[in-house]
Amino acid sequence: MPANKKLLMLPGDGIGPEVMDEVKRIIGWMDKRRHVSFDVADDLVGGCAYDKHGTSLTDNTLEKAMGVDAVLFGAVGGPKWDKAERQHRPEAGLLKLRKEMDLFANLRPATVFPALADASSLKKELVSGLDMLIVRELTGGVYFGQPRGIETLKDGSKRAVDTQVYTSGEIDRVCRAALEFARKRQKRVTSVEKANVMETGVLWREVATAVGKDFPDVQLSHMYADNCAMQLVRNPKQFDVIVTDNLFGDVLSDCAAMLTGSLGMLPSASLGAPDASDRRRALYEPVHGTAPDIAGQKLANPLAMVLSFAMCLRYSFDMADDADLVETAVRNVLDAGFRTADIMQPGKKKVSTVEMGKAVTAELDRLSA
Ligand code: IPM
Ligand code: MG
Repeated sequence: MPANKKLLMLPGDGIGPEVMDEVKRIIGWMDKRRHVSFDVADDLVGGCAYDKHGTSLTDNTLEKAMGVDAVLFGAVGGPKWDKAERQHRPEAGLLKLRKEMDLFANLRPATVFPALADASSLKKELVSGLDMLIVRELTGGVYFGQPRGIETLKDGSKRAVDTQVYTSGEIDRVCRAALEFARKRQKRVTSVEKANVMETGVLWREVATAVGKDFPDVQLSHMYADNCAMQLVRNPKQFDVIVTDNLFGDVLSDCAAMLTGSLGMLPSASLGAPDASDRRRALYEPVHGTAPDIAGQKLANPLAMVLSFAMCLRYSFDMADDADLVETAVRNVLDAGFRTADIMQPGKKKVSTVEMGKAVTAELDRLSA
């Protein structure tokens, strides 16, 4: 088959390259065993790009990202670049990719694999069977609002400003996306803001309510963000889909991720608006960061990156069967007792990053024999 599926891999820093290698292994497997080829390019992003080019995302890399069907992104950042100027910091490269590619809908599923229900910091009965989706607005809000900055006042003290700003259009499109995704799930959406305190929250609730009218088959409710944080640790299974702004989404998705036992398990998809042929710009990345403390030691859990690739198959290439296959293989290797250090439990088989990746491809072999 012709390799017409264009992927750009941006492994980034820290454990990024190690976990990306395990996706390469799966791509190699798909090429050989399923005769599905991808046209894969590699490039630098984050701290490693800064070291080479003096900026964390070059225009050339951005152009490549704009020209592919999907970007696979590892992780960026680390103490080494803490002193870099803000606009060149590793994180700035990621934020620029999100903004320039207009990836406004960030899907962060939090699913508890049966084998890991014990690894959660919450009681097993609270999390087992958990399957929720956070849809985080990704290109607006306080992350990008102007004015922002730190100024020195006359008396020598300083003043810092960030701006939380949303237009009705930005709220409309992300709520619409969330309601649409809910249609393929349990058809329940909780819209989260702080309308009791913030103007953006008032507008958010107003627009969410209006969009909800176009989805009479989906049950829409509203919740304040602080209450949502509490409900996530009190009774997470009450949620199906949560839709929320950029900052609340950042915080709540870390919280939801931990319910599943490890940040090392959670994938994400960042999607743009569908074009005329229903294709969306897309970037897939694990929710975890660069974990500089374990980088290079082959200890990292590659499963979040592998599951991000499964999301890529599902959303960018319409390959639901292959996505299911990869997800099943991951579930089975966990059931078989394979564990990287972050999810290690007594009596299980501790494996390295590479061994975990190989266990997944061995299971793919078995499943498709
Ligand atoms: C995330 C991360 C990023 C964010 C950082 C790395 C800029 O925490 O994707 O959740 O704050 O959005
Ligand atoms: Mg975050």
